[in-house]
Amino acid sequence: MAHFPPSFLDEVLARTDIVEIIARHVELKKSGANLMGLCPFHHEKSPSFSVSADKQLYHCFGCGQGGGAFQFLMAHDGYAFPEAVEYLADKAGMEVPQDTQQDRGDEARQKRDYELLVRASTAMHKALQADAGGKAAAYLQQRGLPAEIINNYALGYAPPGYGFMNRVFGSDNATQARLESVGLLAKGDYGYGDRFRDRLMFTIRDRRGRVVGFGGRVLDEGGPKYLNSPETPYFHKSDLLYGFSEHRDTIRKTKQLVVVEGYMDVLALAAHGLKIGLAPLGTAIGERQIREIFRLCETPVFCFDGDRAGRQAAWRALERMLPLLKAELMPAFLYLPDGEDPDSLLKQEGGEAFAKRLTEEAKPVLETWVHGLKLLAGQGAEGRARMAKKADTMLATMTDSYLMQAWRQEAERVSGISLQRQRPAAKTEKAAPQPRIDVVLNAVEERFMAGLMQQPTRLLQLSGPALDFFIDKPPLRALYSRAFSMQTDAETETTNIARQLIREFPADQNMLSRWINQATVQDIEYNSLLLDMEANDIRSRIRQGLSLGESVQLQKRLRELQAQQQVLKEQLSDTGA
Ligand code: UTP
Ligand code: MN
Repeated sequence: MAHFPPSFLDEVLARTDIVEIIARHVELKKSGANLMGLCPFHHEKSPSFSVSADKQLYHCFGCGQGGGAFQFLMAHDGYAFPEAVEYLADKAGMEVPQDTQQDRGDEARQKRDYELLVRASTAMHKALQADAGGKAAAYLQQRGLPAEIINNYALGYAPPGYGFMNRVFGSDNATQARLESVGLLAKGDYGYGDRFRDRLMFTIRDRRGRVVGFGGRVLDEGGPKYLNSPETPYFHKSDLLYGFSEHRDTIRKTKQLVVVEGYMDVLALAAHGLKIGLAPLGTAIGERQIREIFRLCETPVFCFDGDRAGRQAAWRALERMLPLLKAELMPAFLYLPDGEDPDSLLKQEGGEAFAKRLTEEAKPVLETWVHGLKLLAGQGAEGRARMAKKADTMLATMTDSYLMQAWRQEAERVSGISLQRQRPAAKTEKAAPQPRIDVVLNAVEERFMAGLMQQPTRLLQLSGPALDFFIDKPPLRALYSRAFSMQTDAETETTNIARQLIREFPADQNMLSRWINQATVQDIEYNSLLLDMEANDIRSRIRQGLSLGESVQLQKRLRELQAQQQVLKEQLSDTGA
């Protein structure tokens, strides 16, 4: 960590105008001796954010945030202190006193890497304008993106074949290694090769506007449709939102934010005058991204496709946001007509109609929750019981106790069942490990969990009911559903879910390692376990006492399961397993 002499810091501040720094993000109006504006750190309707040109300080009378130019860059733009100092020193034309060799080396390397990424973005942008990029340019035109968007968002083209990066940067070993470390080259059996080939390129920036990575779309058929930069020291997919640095100021000003699924949706919105779109980078939206969204806007609208997959994605986003919800926040969910995305809808009906959907059709999060619970739980007395159960588990993840009570009352009203009185979850980044009473699993559950942990992609094939009801033992439920969400977010099939789970659920370490290390659960056994799990679930539901009609249905399903089980058992004995 760099250590700056106080006299140097004073000099930097003396040559800096805080008003200029802040006015780039906040509209300031003269008011007495000071300037006033809407606070960028909390949500407000009348200005309580004051900047003193005289003292070179800012202060918000609403939320209490305050400081000087360094603090503003740190709080608003996410700079670390030394970065803020360097940024302002640089702007003031001052030489930064150097620290140790080591620091200097790290900083210089980072700086070079960022430069490399910007140059790559520029080169791709140029390639799009060049003759060879004609195909990509025509594609963009066909998709209706005007030059303004293509330039402002630094869209580009990566030509086909290998060697583009070498032509731009040269092909010495050191350069190639650096290009690999920032995700532009991939190392294969025959040496380094371009990661992105014959793709339309999206430049991805971090919250400070630095180029950190790319997304690339194929122009014709052939997969994968989108390819992103791999994880690098600068590119952390689950921390980034496409459009963030480009749209932050407009979002703050208009107090409107739309979360969409893809790059094209963000750009189509911008092309229709709605520079308020953000998108995750191909993964389901995660807690850190939702946190950023709430910091930016109290009333974000989360858009989803109206089909089954869209509803599932919405439900997952809702589950993720529960721990972050507060009474002041009013997220809403918008389901688009089946098969449409914002891009296709905008094309059909234009920006105004889409904006109208945002205000008129988006449903408050509570309504979305209740509706989702109903869908999940099904009909009748049993449905109401399942609904109450699921509501209980979800409420337990909320941290705002007032809001939790309000939601609980709502769930009790719809289910007609009184829920457990829970304390709000601890307000920590991760769920705090709960003191653990040993969970006793029956043989089927034990092998089932082992089967999942040994081959986590199996989680993705589980049906909704399996996810919600198979594992009923309270201490295990959280781990079970977390494993599922990790797998859905996972970059690759080999992502080590077990290791991540051990980190988040340290109390379950022994159990997790037992599952991983026991005899492999082969597919045939796993399929048979699935049938057993469902049969056991049905039996316990029948035991809970149901109306005759439902019980008959379940008995029928049970017989089906037993028949399938029989077939599997025969196969199993045939293979001699
Ligand atoms: P979609 O398949 O819905 O594509 O993926 P789209 O955004 O509508 O793109 P167009 O309109 O066909 O061009 C949505 C998002 O999921 C990620 C990308 O971030 C994409 O924007 N994705 C999709 C991938 O990361 N990889 C893929 O293979 C497909
Ligand atoms: Mn699309």
